[in-house]
Amino acid sequence: MNQDNIRQLLEKYGQTHLLQFEDSICDSEKDILYNQIASVDWDFLKSLNKNSTENLSVIEPLDALSIDDINEKKSVYNSIGTKAIQEGKLCLLLLAGGQGTRLGHDRPKGCFNMGITKEMTIFSLLMNHTLKIVQETNTWIHMYIMTSDINYNDTTQFFEENNYFGYNPDYIHFFVQELNPATDFNGKILMNSPHTLALSPNGNGGWFSSMNRAGLLQEIFDNPIEWINVFAVDNVLQGIADPVFLGATIDSGKMCGAKVVRKAFPEEKVGAICKENGKPHIIEYYELSEEMTYQKNDDGTLAYGFGVILNYLFPISRLKETLNNKMPLHVVKKTVPYINNNKELVEPTEPNGLKFETLALDLIHEMDDCLVFEVDREKEFAPVKNKSGVDSIDTARELLKKNGYEL
Ligand code: UTP
Repeated sequence: MNQDNIRQLLEKYGQTHLLQFEDSICDSEKDILYNQIASVDWDFLKSLNKNSTENLSVIEPLDALSIDDINEKKSVYNSIGTKAIQEGKLCLLLLAGGQGTRLGHDRPKGCFNMGITKEMTIFSLLMNHTLKIVQETNTWIHMYIMTSDINYNDTTQFFEENNYFGYNPDYIHFFVQELNPATDFNGKILMNSPHTLALSPNGNGGWFSSMNRAGLLQEIFDNPIEWINVFAVDNVLQGIADPVFLGATIDSGKMCGAKVVRKAFPEEKVGAICKENGKPHIIEYYELSEEMTYQKNDDGTLAYGFGVILNYLFPISRLKETLNNKMPLHVVKKTVPYINNNKELVEPTEPNGLKFETLALDLIHEMDDCLVFEVDREKEFAPVKNKSGVDSIDTARELLKKNGYEL
């Protein structure tokens, strides 16, 4: 695209301010800027004008397999899941492309040290959880790790330096997710230098098409892999490749599975699993009406009382069918460093911009039904989202200690 085309494009989308420093940058910087502008998928701007209140959906509760139900059939589920793992039917996907802005750590979140007297990084914890299953099943399981352009080098180097935490490197596959521009609250794209746009990872829902773009799907299709266990980097007690979860999902005959925890209290700020127009769905805490927040089942438990913890099992065959569907983008308010008109870098402490993200919850909606699988939050849910307070380093450390870890 030449300079004139770039200007026309920016005029069309009301973004000509991106050329405001054009006269002060050298030719190679101009190339970088034009390339970044040319590769923007401008559809992201459409999500700004979507009216989120326009919603004609029917929301209903979705029942879960409780811990008691699971314990009753645990050995059956375990042997079904173990057999499937040994037959090579499971692969793993670690979502590690996020920027972790709330934690404010300057490296990938997985490199964060949870230890106090010794090093115990989040990545090492997750890899150890997985290695335990590898040992129990005597089977290496392929693990795909999604990074972004921003943290790819740091993440891959960290794995190399740590000898893949004892995992077989032939079974570890990194790939990079796409980036979207971040804007100010008026939809104007922010810049983080005179020749670069403020780009950020496009969310945790678009991983299947990113794997496709990275050329990784063919090897999955060529293998006997039927299931992918997708999980977040920031739960240090994450139950990965859990044979009981896999076995229960297979046994249920349902299309996918979601690990959930029972809400600690009705107003807890977690997405609750439910049905929307008959399809599995995740409703955010702020979308629940007051009536739904406190609604009870006949047995007195909360009707919308199971929160998702970003640990899912998806069937490869269904994902393949949805590959060409464009995922909706959600507009999220976040802190975005940017340069002002004087080219000074501003690092806000409060949200100042909008990011455009695909979300894993939209994939759930593509499934016909879902096994909701309850886990014990004290044993499997220790999220590290914030520096302090709720879901923070301190709360996660406490939970690690409760589970016998010496930090
Ligand atoms: P979060 O929604 O907590 O986002 O990610 P985040 O970027 O890590 O943190 P904040 O909101 O900026 O503080 C949940 C999971 O999804 C992954 C994260 O790495 C984490 O495992 N994720 C998120 C991606 O892989 N890509 C993304 O674009 C966003």
